[in-house]
Amino acid sequence: MKADAIVSVETQIEDLSHDGRGVARIDGKVWFVEGALPGETVSVKRLKGRRSYSTGVVDSIIVESADRVTPKCGYFGTCGGCAVQHLSYPGQLDFKKKVVSDAFIGAHVPLPDYIDVLSDDPWAYRRRARLGVRYVPKKGGALVGFRERNNSYITGLETCEVLVKSVSDLLPSLQGLVEQLSVRDQLPQIEVAVGENATALVFRHLKPLTEADQHALAAFGERHQTQIFTQSKGPKTVTALWPAEPDPLNYSLEKFGLTIEFSPVDFVQINGGINERLVGVIISWLELNRQDEVLDLFCGLGNFSLATAQRAKSVLGVEGERALVQKAELNASHNQIRNASFKTRDLFDDGIVDWSESKFSKVIVDPPRSGAREALKRVVDHVKPEVIAYVSCNPATLARDSADLIESGFYGLDRLLVADMFPHTAHVETAALFRRVS
Ligand SMILES: C[S@@+](CC[C@H](N)C(=O)[O-])C[C@H]1O[C@@H](n2cnc3c(N)ncnc32)[C@H](O)[C@@H]1O
Repeated sequence: MKADAIVSVETQIEDLSHDGRGVARIDGKVWFVEGALPGETVSVKRLKGRRSYSTGVVDSIIVESADRVTPKCGYFGTCGGCAVQHLSYPGQLDFKKKVVSDAFIGAHVPLPDYIDVLSDDPWAYRRRARLGVRYVPKKGGALVGFRERNNSYITGLETCEVLVKSVSDLLPSLQGLVEQLSVRDQLPQIEVAVGENATALVFRHLKPLTEADQHALAAFGERHQTQIFTQSKGPKTVTALWPAEPDPLNYSLEKFGLTIEFSPVDFVQINGGINERLVGVIISWLELNRQDEVLDLFCGLGNFSLATAQRAKSVLGVEGERALVQKAELNASHNQIRNASFKTRDLFDDGIVDWSESKFSKVIVDPPRSGAREALKRVVDHVKPEVIAYVSCNPATLARDSADLIESGFYGLDRLLVADMFPHTAHVETAALFRRVS
């Protein structure tokens, strides 16, 4: 009988997929097996069978990997927030290096001699999150947490090992708060943003809040000393509820003496410790001097721009969101940085651009998951800097863009580093340094 037709089958796990599932080959067909690790022999229960592959979940482990550990979190396996808590932390770092090297090999980009790794405390690191909310009386009330692994249900979390501890501690009271609200079944999500000075919660609601709802939210904010915002539609409708005029959130880049302000819905790097060290790596890779004019593409709030400006002649930050550009300008001014300027531009638009005119000697790019293909083409055609430091949250597009840079004939890959921004998840943050070769 074919494995697809039976409930449970024994197999050996050969590899780990980029999303953290064990990979097996059964009857010539690839299986992705949740909860399985390379080197293990497991009994697999089938979840879904597709034409080219099947998915399954470990039923029992027959031969266990030496890298297997007991997950710290009781929700692991159900909650979709983490993917590899069952793999030892050194094993996770090796896995992420392999995801990057596989992507580069797949894109025919020669790898450097070694891949560096940047890691920090792998627990309680997450300072930004979107918590799903569902009101399910049958399950005892409100569920607040991340989506389950294989469906759109919400895992009701009482605690979370990767969220910053003060936010994890709030989870049970948040559940109680949602249950009190008249809009409890019209409240799809709560955004969490943790600054060093304050924590903010943004309650997205699909129906208007009653006065009693507003009182309950404000009282919660006051009791837990947490800023409360409401959001009825898009990001522009985010409104402070408690306090009426909250201080902007901030994080510091201590090593650089910088404080960066942000609002609760702005993009900030999720892991503050790794972010500060990553900024340090990029600065050291760039070997800046006072002659350097630097272009920082996808600059956000100025996370890399400001530390760069402290060491260079000038920095131009380019970013798609006007609100972030305004914050970057404010952040430069609050930090007494006068040699950084910022522009709002769509960097996926391959029309005429005005950011590639100056003589930039060094370029930083830190794009969203879709990568920086169009922007890098501009950089190669019009700027040709000495070095390009590329920070990426998607190894596949990084590898694709690296192949473009190398095929241009002007750049070689000099350094590659995995920064473990998202421990216990399968997300991989990478930095690569390209040096001009001709
Ligand atoms: C990974 S974040 C990096 C932000 C910043 N470098 C940092 O470290 O905080 C990517 C940034 O790209 C911006 N972005 C997304 N699409 C864009 C586009 N089409 N043009 C310009 N910027 C864009 C986002 O707003 C976001 O700020």
